[in-house]
Amino acid sequence: MKPDLVSVEPLRPESMTELAQTFTVHALPADRALWASAVGPVADRARFVQTTGFSGCPAALMSALPKLEIVSVMGVGVDAVDLAQARARGIAVTNTPDVLNDDVADLSIALLLMTARRLALSDRYVRDGRWKRLGNQALATKVSGKRLGIVGMGRIGKVVARRAAAFDMDISYHTRTPAAVPYRHVPDLNALARAVDFLIVIVPGGPGTRGLIGAETIAALGPDGILVNVSRGSVVDEPALVAALVSGRLGGAGLDVFADEPNVPEALLGLDTVVLAPHVGSATQETRGAMADLVVANLRAHLEGRKLLTPVG
Ligand code: NAP
Ligand code: 8YV
Repeated sequence: MKPDLVSVEPLRPESMTELAQTFTVHALPADRALWASAVGPVADRARFVQTTGFSGCPAALMSALPKLEIVSVMGVGVDAVDLAQARARGIAVTNTPDVLNDDVADLSIALLLMTARRLALSDRYVRDGRWKRLGNQALATKVSGKRLGIVGMGRIGKVVARRAAAFDMDISYHTRTPAAVPYRHVPDLNALARAVDFLIVIVPGGPGTRGLIGAETIAALGPDGILVNVSRGSVVDEPALVAALVSGRLGGAGLDVFADEPNVPEALLGLDTVVLAPHVGSATQETRGAMADLVVANLRAHLEGRKLLTPVG
């Protein structure tokens, strides 16, 4: 008999077919309020959970699976997994680091360019006939050669920095511990925000970074500054960000992540200084394919008693 696997949120169809060759797959409903009860029939047997960074494996679901041995996450961020419970119960957690670095770095730079150069507005300006009616669009902000601050200099932050260097940007960064990189480390986050034109945020989510980018940092970036957040919505004080953008105390923002996805603050929807994306940092066919392959490979490794490819911690 095949071992039981709980699928919290599906991978691409070919990966689900692959999983079904090895496991009996029990898919959970979309409504997360039903997850803990929906595992009922396999609660006493399921040793494997396959999930995504967005859905994770919250406390109630994990508690409902007493035989659980491994949670395999499609995503590098594991802030939606109850890591404390996993640690206490000896449950392995795996993620999908590195294979998504290029895409997330590409999106970071794309959001910076789009926000500074007002490209989403440019597209609307042409489509709705404003170019013909009103003439040229107002001038935007140059990106090349400017001062960039990166909050987080891990796997993705380093790739963001490499791309920014190709734009001749002056790069400095903030982390708790200096990284082995040729850029200026700034131990004080607000000092970094004061010293740069643009800030790209790429740290993990979770309790350690909740509200890290608060009103003070936003004020330090100032009315000409641009904030790009590709990390997690929880990292930025969203009400403070919205208030600063609405009042013009922050110049602009490029946002891929939000505090309560897929809900986006209403006040942002009408702002031309903001570019919004629906959490698509890793959302290409190529990268999501590589991420899904890693999820399956980790589950198979555990089943076969082999070393996990990408364990967390
Ligand atoms: P990583 O290699 O673990 O790097 C994390 C970096 O953040 C490190 O430089 C770390 O340095 C820094 N950091 C952690 N806590 C900090 C704090 N409190 N203050 C300042 N810096 C802190 O992670 P990664 O692979 O680059 O991924 C980063 C995150 O990006 C993921 O966890 C995920 O949330 C997000 N992400 C988003 C998307 C998307 O689709 N938008 C896609 C992929 C990943 P120190 O430990 O020295 O502080
Ligand atoms: C995914 C992400 O979109 O890797 C991460 O941490 O945020 C993204 O790559 C997400 O995990 C899928 O739910």
